[in-house]
Amino acid sequence: MSTTIHTTGVTVAIDARRLWERHMTMAQIGATPKGGVNRQAFSPEDGRARQLLVAWARELGLTVSLDAVGNLYVRREGSDPTAAPVLTGSHLDSQPTGGKFDGAYGVLAGFEVLEAIQHGGVTTRRPVELVCWSNEEGSRFQPGCMGSSVFTDKRQLSEFLTDTDKDGITVGAALQATLAATPDVAQRALGFEVAAYLEAHIEQGPILEAAGIPIGAVTGVQGSRRYTVEVLGEEAHAGTAPLKTRKDALKAAVAMIHALEATMADETDTVRFTVGRFDVAPGSPNTVPSRAFFTIDFRHPEQEVINRLTGQIEPVCRAHARGCDVIVTRLSDVAPTPFDRAIIQTVRQHAGRLGLQHMDILSGAGHDAMYMATVCPSGMIFIPCTKGISHNETENTRPEDVAAGARVLAECMVDLANR
Ligand code: HGY
Ligand code: MN
Ligand code: MN
Repeated sequence: MSTTIHTTGVTVAIDARRLWERHMTMAQIGATPKGGVNRQAFSPEDGRARQLLVAWARELGLTVSLDAVGNLYVRREGSDPTAAPVLTGSHLDSQPTGGKFDGAYGVLAGFEVLEAIQHGGVTTRRPVELVCWSNEEGSRFQPGCMGSSVFTDKRQLSEFLTDTDKDGITVGAALQATLAATPDVAQRALGFEVAAYLEAHIEQGPILEAAGIPIGAVTGVQGSRRYTVEVLGEEAHAGTAPLKTRKDALKAAVAMIHALEATMADETDTVRFTVGRFDVAPGSPNTVPSRAFFTIDFRHPEQEVINRLTGQIEPVCRAHARGCDVIVTRLSDVAPTPFDRAIIQTVRQHAGRLGLQHMDILSGAGHDAMYMATVCPSGMIFIPCTKGISHNETENTRPEDVAAGARVLAECMVDLANR
C-alpha cells in the first residue's frame, strides 16, 4: 500500500465533547459502584450496549448489520460501493471489574470518525465501516477474540457453542439472547474482504503516560497462550484421612503454581505469567478437595521464549501432581504479531501532521487486530491511560487524549479509504 497522505480536514468535525459524553453514556450500561463497568460477553448489558450503538448509528442514517457470531457493523458508503471497505473498531464487552475505556474507546472513537465524515461532508472512495467484535475479553467465555477469530476463519463458531460460563450457560444460548437484543438488524455473511483495519485503544500500560506522549503507533502485539489445568484427586474426611494417603487436589494445584512461578522467573520482567481463576471443589471446610481448576495466561514478545517456557507447563504440573490426575489444555495460541509497516507509518505521519507527539510501541495486551493482521494490512493507535491501569474499575484517561486519538484515527481512515 502506498503511504502518500491525503488530508481532508475531517478532524475539524471531530467533536471532543460529544465523544467524551458518549463514553459516559455507554459506561452507564453495566456500571459498577466503583466507577467501572461489568458488561461481560453476551450478557444483557452487552445486548443493551449494542442496542445503544445501533440507535446512534440509525440517527446518523448509517447501515447496521450483524454476523452469526454477533459482530456488529456500522457502514458508511463510499463513492465506490463495490470497493472493499476500510474497517475500524474494537469491543464493548468488558472484564467483570472492567473500566470505561477498554474496548469502548475503539468503538466510540470509530463511531465519532463516521460521524465526522458524515457531518464533515467528506467523501471517501471506499466504504468506511465500524465493527464491534464479539467477546474480545475471553473472561466469561474462553478464549478471547471470539468474534474476530471466527471472522478471520482462524476458529469456527461451532467450536464454542456448547462451552459454558461459571453458571452453566452455553455460548450458544447467550449468543442467541444477544442477537435477539437487536432483532431488526440485518444479518450479514461471516467474513468479507477488508482493505485495511485500524483499531484505536487505550494502551493499558504505563509507557505513553510516563513519556508524556499522547499517541502510540503500535508496531505489533506480543504473543500469548492460554491454558486451563484441571487437577483431579479424591475427597476424604479432614479429620481421619492420613496426609500421606490423601490425593488433595488443592494442595497439588498450589504446589504446581508455585513451581510454575519459579519456572517463569525472569529478571528482565518481560514474561507475563498470570493465574487469574482458581476454583476448588467440593469447597467444604472438612472435606479434602477432590478437584482444583486454574487458568494460565502466558505472554511474551519472542516465540522462542514462549515455546520454551510454555513447554514446561505440563511437565511441571505432572511433577507436582501428588497422586492426582492432571489435565492441561491449551485454549489459545497467538503468535507475536507485527503490524503492517505502511499502516504504522500512516499513523506516525498523521499524528505528526496534527502536531501530536507520537512514539512506536509494542502492545502488551491482546486485541482483535492480532487476527485482522492475518487477513489485511492492520494496525492500532494507542492513547495513554492513567497510571497504565486497566482491567480495573478505576481505569481512566483524559478527554484531550481521547479526542487526539480520534483525530488521528479520522485522518488515517479517510486516507486509507481513498487509496
Ligand atoms: O487480555 C487482553 O490482553 C485483552 O485486554 N483482553
Ligand atoms: Mn481491549
Ligand atoms: Mn481487555
